[in-house]
Amino acid sequence: MAATKVVLAGASGNLGPAVLKELLDAGLEVTIFTRQNSNKTFDSRAKVAAVNYDSVDALKAALSGQEVVVDTLAPLDLGLHLRLIDASVAAGVTRFIPSEFGADTTNALAAKLPVYGNKVAVQEHLKRVSAESDLSYTLVLTGAFLEFGLQTGFLVNLAGPAELYDGGEGQVSISSLPGIGQAVVGVVRNLDKTRNETVYVSQVNASQKELLGWSGKRVETKVVRTEDLERLSYEEIKKPQPDLMVFAVGLLRRAIFGEGYGGLFDSEKLSNELLGVRSFTEEEVREIVRKFS
Ligand SMILES: NC(=O)c1ccc[n+]([C@@H]2O[C@H](COP(=O)([O-])OP(=O)(O)OC[C@H]3O[C@@H](n4cnc5c(N)ncnc54)[C@H](OP(=O)(O)O)[C@@H]3O)[C@@H](O)[C@H]2O)c1
Repeated sequence: MAATKVVLAGASGNLGPAVLKELLDAGLEVTIFTRQNSNKTFDSRAKVAAVNYDSVDALKAALSGQEVVVDTLAPLDLGLHLRLIDASVAAGVTRFIPSEFGADTTNALAAKLPVYGNKVAVQEHLKRVSAESDLSYTLVLTGAFLEFGLQTGFLVNLAGPAELYDGGEGQVSISSLPGIGQAVVGVVRNLDKTRNETVYVSQVNASQKELLGWSGKRVETKVVRTEDLERLSYEEIKKPQPDLMVFAVGLLRRAIFGEGYGGLFDSEKLSNELLGVRSFTEEEVREIVRKFS
């Protein structure tokens, strides 16, 4: 079973534009939800609805006749995501794709990290409502974002000095922004096979040292233990005014690079083929890495 009418909530952020492009290129009828006070402009092939995210009733009305909701909103406000889910149930939406798109939040160690508290709460809510209504869900886990991770230095700081987490030799699962958009299209086209499932996608497994090598750059490096990042993050959280950038990034790196946290997806679990997401050749990754060098 495939759907045609898709709502994309959060089409203007880091991930949203790539998902929007793939949905539109796939010929789907896309309606973008954007905040009423947002002044973003979007691809004219999509309809745009300025919505009141504070009201389940208003969201329900805006969702009338829609089949799939793709949530690429920032994960910070739990209530926002829960209202979008409740409105989707009320409007008779078929599939909800929550704002996951990262580490394996179903891994027991990762799920305990406070930075994933909202994502885990959304998963629990989806499990509850899907048992009692016609709404089903698909969790799309993609590993780290390639371009975002190189641009921000989250994966590795190509400008140097580069921190090498737990030595920088462990491979992690990584996807490109277009690849993640293609995975979302793949779910919309395969609603039966992805019903109430967690799907894993990865376009390349790479270590930080491999990424550095592919960049062709020689930068100063320093080994950092992700165990220390986790400890420092909890110390930061206890402060009266914790710095989100310090504790969130530390915990996200723990989940991506820490041993046992599921940062490297089991190749047998990957749904690349089902969802139509191609793995990169080494040369393709080198080319992307060099663009950010
Ligand atoms: N795996 C990775 O490496 C990685 C990296 C980055 C992000 N992610 C994940 O990808 C998902 C999307 O993250 P993102 O960085 O793309 O998000 P983002 O850029 O922070 O925000 C996405 C959009 O959400 C809307 N928005 C922002 N704040 C809002 C608020 N308070 N209320 C309502 N809407 C709000 C905005 O759209 P409008 O202005 O149009 O309303 C914004 O453009 C998240 O689940 C995140 O964890 C993963």
